[in-house]
Amino acid sequence: MADSLLEMRGIIKEFGGVRALNGINLSVKAGEVVGLCGENGAGKSTMMKVLSAVYPYGTWGGTILWEGRELKATSIRETEDAGIVIIHQELMLVPQLSVAENIFLGREPHGFGGMIDFEAMYSKAATLMADLKMSHINVAQPVAHYSGGERQLIEIAKALSKNAKLLILDEPTSSLTRSETDTLLGIVKGLKARGTACVYISHKLEEIEAIADSVTVIRDGAYVGSEPMRQLTTGVIIRMMIGREMANLFPREDHPIGDVVFEARNVICIDPQNIDRRRVDNVSFQLRKGEILGIAGLVGAGRTELVSALFGCYRGPYTADLYLDGKPITVRTPKQAVAQGLCMVPEDRKAHGIVPELAVGQNITLSVLDHYTRHDLIDEEREMKDIGTAIATMRIKTASPMLPIGRLSGGNQQKAVIAKMLAPHPRVLILDEPTRGVDVGAKYEIYKLMFELVKTGVSIIMVSSEMPEVLGISDRVLVIGEGQLRGDFVNDGLTQEAVLTAAITDLPRAA
Ligand SMILES: Nc1ncnc2c1ncn2[C@@H]1O[C@H](COP(=O)(O)OP(=O)(O)OP(=O)(O)O)[C@@H](O)[C@H]1O
Ligand SMILES: [Mg+2]
Repeated sequence: MADSLLEMRGIIKEFGGVRALNGINLSVKAGEVVGLCGENGAGKSTMMKVLSAVYPYGTWGGTILWEGRELKATSIRETEDAGIVIIHQELMLVPQLSVAENIFLGREPHGFGGMIDFEAMYSKAATLMADLKMSHINVAQPVAHYSGGERQLIEIAKALSKNAKLLILDEPTSSLTRSETDTLLGIVKGLKARGTACVYISHKLEEIEAIADSVTVIRDGAYVGSEPMRQLTTGVIIRMMIGREMANLFPREDHPIGDVVFEARNVICIDPQNIDRRRVDNVSFQLRKGEILGIAGLVGAGRTELVSALFGCYRGPYTADLYLDGKPITVRTPKQAVAQGLCMVPEDRKAHGIVPELAVGQNITLSVLDHYTRHDLIDEEREMKDIGTAIATMRIKTASPMLPIGRLSGGNQQKAVIAKMLAPHPRVLILDEPTRGVDVGAKYEIYKLMFELVKTGVSIIMVSSEMPEVLGISDRVLVIGEGQLRGDFVNDGLTQEAVLTAAITDLPRAA
C-alpha cells in the first residue's frame, strides 16, 4: 500500500521456549490511529517492544516494514531516530531528576562551552507542559513530587518532544482523571491532524471507540483481525478479544449485609509538602459486615490518602480513630493493619504492591510468610499448594509460579497483587483501583471474586475512578471531594450525575 507507514507481518516472539507472539500482523497508515486490543497477556506490550527495538532485530521472527523499507533496528535510539516513539505501560521516569531533565534525558540542549543550557531546557519543558494544560507543573522540581496522573502526562510531554511519526501509547490513561484523559485524546487528535500516526492500547474501549480509525485485535499471542472502527462496536471488539459474548459486565449478586464491623472517625491527612493543606479533611464513615463500599470522587480528591491512612501507610502527618467491632484499634503501619485483619491492594502496584524480581508465588505469600514458618523453617509444600490455588482461582496467566512477577503482563500482575492480599484472610479488604489496566474478562473475574468474599462475611472498601464500576458493584457509595466527605449514598437507583454533582458540591461545614 502506498500510504502504508508501518507493516508488521507474522511477528513471532518467544520467551524461554514459550511463544508470546505467534504470527501477529499490524498495519498503520500515515496519520492513522490504530487501536490495539486484547486481553491481559495477549501480547500487546510485547508487540510494541518488538516494534520499538526494546527487543532488538534478531530476537524475534517476522518482518517489519517502515515507510516501505525493512526495519532491522537493534536499539531504541535507532527506532526513535526513525520516528517511532513509545510510551511504555510502566512509567520509566527517574523520580529524583527534575521534570525538565526527565523530558530531555540524553538530549539536553547545550549552550556555549558544551554546558547544559538549563534555561533553554526549562523553557522548552514548560512550553510542552503548557500544551498539555499542565502549566501548574514546576519543571525544575523532581518528578517524585508529582502524582501518577501527572507523571503520565510528563511522560507524554517527553514523547511529544521527540517529533514522532508514529506514537505508541500503551495504556496511557490508566492513572489519568477524566479531564486529563480528554486532554490526552484531544492531543492525539491534534497530532493526527498534523499527520502523526498512533498505536493506542487501552482496556477502556470507549477511548478506542472515540479515537481509533481502525482496530487490531490479538488473543493469546495470535492475530484475530483488523477492522475499520466504523464497522465495529465495543461489543464486537469484546467478542473478538475473548472469543465469546459477554452479556453482563457487572455480575452483581445478592448477599446479606450485617452489622457495622469497621468504623473510621475524624480521618485527617496533612499534605506533607504544605502543612496548611488537608488532603483528607475530617472524614468519618462506617462499614458493615459483607458490604461493598465504593469510594468515588475525582482523582486527586483524597481517596487514596484516606485509605492509606486506614492501612497505616499515609506518607505525612495524619490522625485516624479506627474501630473494629466497636473497639478502638491501633494501626500505624501496614504490618499492624494486616495483624488486625485489614488488608489493602494499593493503587500503585509498582511502588507498593510487588517486588518485581521475586517469583509470582513468592510475591503472593510475601505478606503471610510467618504463616508458613515453623521453627524457622518454611513449610514449602504448604506454601506451594496455596500459591497454586491462588494462581488457579485468580486465573493468573503465568508460565510458572517461579517466573519473576515483573515479567507478567500488567493485568496479571494486578491479579497477583490481589491474591497476595487475600492470603492473610482479611476481614476488611481495601482495594484501590482494583481493575486498573485489567481487561474486561479479568475485571469480571475480580468482581466475581469480590462477591464470593462478601458472601463469606468479608467487607470491602473499593476506591474506583470508573463510575460504571462503582455503580455496578457497590452496595453503598461514599463521595469524596477536595478531601471532604460529600455524600454517603445507598446504591439503589443511584446515578452517575448524582455522584458527580456531590463530588463537586461543597457542603456547608458543621461548626
Ligand atoms: N520478559 C518476559 N519473560 C517471559 N514472559 C514474558 C516476558 N514479557 C512478556 N511475557 C509474557 O508474554 C505474554 C504477553 O505479555 P504482554 O505484556 O505483551 O501482554 P499485554 O497484552 O500487554 O497484557 P496487559 O493488557 O496485561 O498489559 C504474557 O503471557 C507474558 O507473561
Ligand atoms: Mg501490556
